[in-house]
Amino acid sequence: MSITLQRIVAPTDEEIAALHELCLGTPGYWRLCEGKPPGRDQIAGWFAGADLPEGLSLADEYFFTLWAENRRVGLCQILRGWPYRSRAMIGLMLIVEEWQGLGLGRLAYRELERLIIDWPGIQTVWIGVAANNLPALSFWQSLGFRATGERRRDPKFLAETLLFEKAFD
Ligand SMILES: CC(C)(COP(=O)(O)OP(=O)(O)OC[C@H]1O[C@@H](n2cnc3c(N)ncnc32)[C@H](O)[C@@H]1OP(=O)(O)O)[C@@H](O)C(=O)NCCC(=O)NCCS
Repeated sequence: MSITLQRIVAPTDEEIAALHELCLGTPGYWRLCEGKPPGRDQIAGWFAGADLPEGLSLADEYFFTLWAENRRVGLCQILRGWPYRSRAMIGLMLIVEEWQGLGLGRLAYRELERLIIDWPGIQTVWIGVAANNLPALSFWQSLGFRATGERRRDPKFLAETLLFEKAFD
């Protein structure tokens, strides 16, 4: 199986509905990490910069729909140059439940990494993983991410967030 990343910049209502559907396809994740999935308005807000950290512009935020076998199977979001120019942060990576465990997450990350490595000046990629999201902890470690030892209390998450990073040579 292969996976394709389609960048979404200014989604139509239909695309917002499709992204919402993808979020509803990972109920276990939202229940565990944030309590409930985002609503359509919240998703529309992502594309208006609602969750964008200070100092970044919409051009630094990349949302992708993940496609396999002509189906939307997931989505991811990445911030370029945050919190400083040499870092990229993966904010979200979801594979819908019925497509999990088939290697698609690994393939999606491989495509993402190709993109990130081509960004001039980016030396590391990092992600905050909710400490209670045990499958995700294994997933990122299997891709070469290492725990930095930093922990954060992000009010968005029900549990503490552990920071993982991967450096590029
Ligand atoms: C985490 C997630 C992105 C992984 O994608 P996936 O397609 O299911 O994972 P893959 O099949 O590509 O697995 C890659 C590796 O991750 C690890 N892994 C994946 N699922 C795992 C699980 N449930 N338990 C333990 N390890 C797991 C394994 O090391 C696996 O390698 P292997 O197949 O050689 O054993 C996906 O399961 C998901 O969307 N989960 C819900 C949302 C989420 O938690 N996102 C991450 C937020 S930080």
